Amino acid sequence: MTMMHILLILCFCLSVVSSTVSPCAKWNTTGVTIAGTGEAGNSSFQIDSAKGIFIHKERNELYVADFSNDRVQKFLLADPSRIGITVASGIKNPMKVYVDDDISGPTVYVSLRFLNRVEKWMNGATQGVQVGGECQLCSGVSVDKEKNVYMSESNRHRVVQWSPRTNMTTVVAGKTDTNGSTSDLLNHPQGIYVNRDGSIIYVADMWNSRIQNWTTASREGTTVAGSNQGTEGHDPETLDYPNDVIVDDETNVVYVIDTSNNRVQRWKPFASEGDTIVGDRGAGNATNQLNKPVDLAFDMKGNLYVMDMENNRVEMFELIDNRPCSLESAASSSILGSMITTIIISIISFISMIHI
Ligand SMILES: *[C@@H]1O[C@H](CO)[C@@H](O)[C@H](O)[C@H]1NC(C)=O
Ligand SMILES: *[C@@H]1O[C@H](CO)[C@@H](O)[C@H](O)[C@H]1NC(C)=O
Ligand SMILES: *[C@@H]1O[C@H](CO)[C@@H](O)[C@H](O)[C@H]1NC(C)=O
Ligand SMILES: *[C@@H]1O[C@H](CO)[C@@H](O)[C@H](O)[C@H]1NC(C)=O
Ligand SMILES: *[C@@H]1O[C@H](CO)[C@@H](O)[C@H](O)[C@H]1NC(C)=O
Ligand SMILES: *[C@@H]1O[C@H](CO)[C@@H](O)[C@H](O)[C@H]1NC(C)=O
Repeated sequence: MTMMHILLILCFCLSVVSSTVSPCAKWNTTGVTIAGTGEAGNSSFQIDSAKGIFIHKERNELYVADFSNDRVQKFLLADPSRIGITVASGIKNPMKVYVDDDISGPTVYVSLRFLNRVEKWMNGATQGVQVGGECQLCSGVSVDKEKNVYMSESNRHRVVQWSPRTNMTTVVAGKTDTNGSTSDLLNHPQGIYVNRDGSIIYVADMWNSRIQNWTTASREGTTVAGSNQGTEGHDPETLDYPNDVIVDDETNVVYVIDTSNNRVQRWKPFASEGDTIVGDRGAGNATNQLNKPVDLAFDMKGNLYVMDMENNRVEMFELIDNRPCSLESAASSSILGSMITTIIISIISFISMIHI
């Protein structure tokens, strides 16, 4: 390994470290439109009632489940032209989208609400392949590192996992065909977030206006955002028909798209209430407003993207303050920072000694 290699690896590690979003981060509450024109349409600039978004962080690509146009669009975030490229077409009413890496490149998993299934579209494919069995009123979709596919069946009040290894489908959250607000039940689950090793499944339990955390082998979920009683509301303790959720695997902070409140809420671990990070200014199309937001995503830099459904646009809210939460953590992070610097300097001087 040359010194160049080592430096590159170090820079990479540092950039990964610095991309962590602080649990106390702030975003510009004025958004910038990144995709869509604000008017529904089927041109390559437009989207129509899109319901799902996904960001492939390393590739810096935004994928949109363009519901009423029966297609999945890809937008290159570095390209200011905002032209969408169709990566799946001839499908029907895509709800949510997840993009995974395969040898052939990015593979798109898309849930098709009325076709009751999830389809997998390989890079460059002209046709999708169904994965797993039937998924009634299919909504959320996610994939873990073993390529197990998770799907939420809104109509059957459950989340299932399909294993490509065994070709078996198992229920991992909720109880089949039973809805309610006790901890063992779900009520019309929508978007889901599954961690990479598939050990934790977060569910936007929509009709219960709460986010539930289910771990493998548990028979009930715990509420990590919203009222555990399943009561909707507009205060910091409640949510109103949340459509999707993203959890930061490092900090365990839960980010919720609080659809009927037209806002994005952040719940820190063990918090009894959330705080609004963007929106909550009534339904509307101003740059600081949302109208029925249904999905969210973050890019590599921690900027927040919102699928602003009724406005037919994807808004980007820039991360503007990423300082740690308290002075204590500020102190410890600066200690960590100086430790890392010291280590790098020692490695570099060690290597230059070897070269001499
Ligand atoms: C927020 O974004 C708007 C629109 O891009 C910009 O005019 C404004 O200066 C930004 N505010 C901050 C605090 O960065
Ligand atoms: C935004 O809303 C206003 C008032 O409701 C409307 O007149 C305008 O056409 C909307 N703009 C777009 C781009 O939809
Ligand atoms: C696109 O929309 C136009 C109307 O705006 C319509 O005439 C046309 O048929 C649509 N194309 C497709 C492929 O749906
Ligand atoms: C997987 O299971 C489904 C139904 O449970 C069946 O139709 C299909 O043929 C199976 N696929 C393989 C490769 O065994
Ligand atoms: C359960 O879902 C059905 C429709 O799928 C609905 O009619 C019923 O009100 C729901 N029950 C509860 C407790 O929300
Ligand atoms: C979800 O549950 C797991 C297992 O108990 C826990 O490690 C994790 O922190 C929980 N997530 C949140 C956001 O509380």
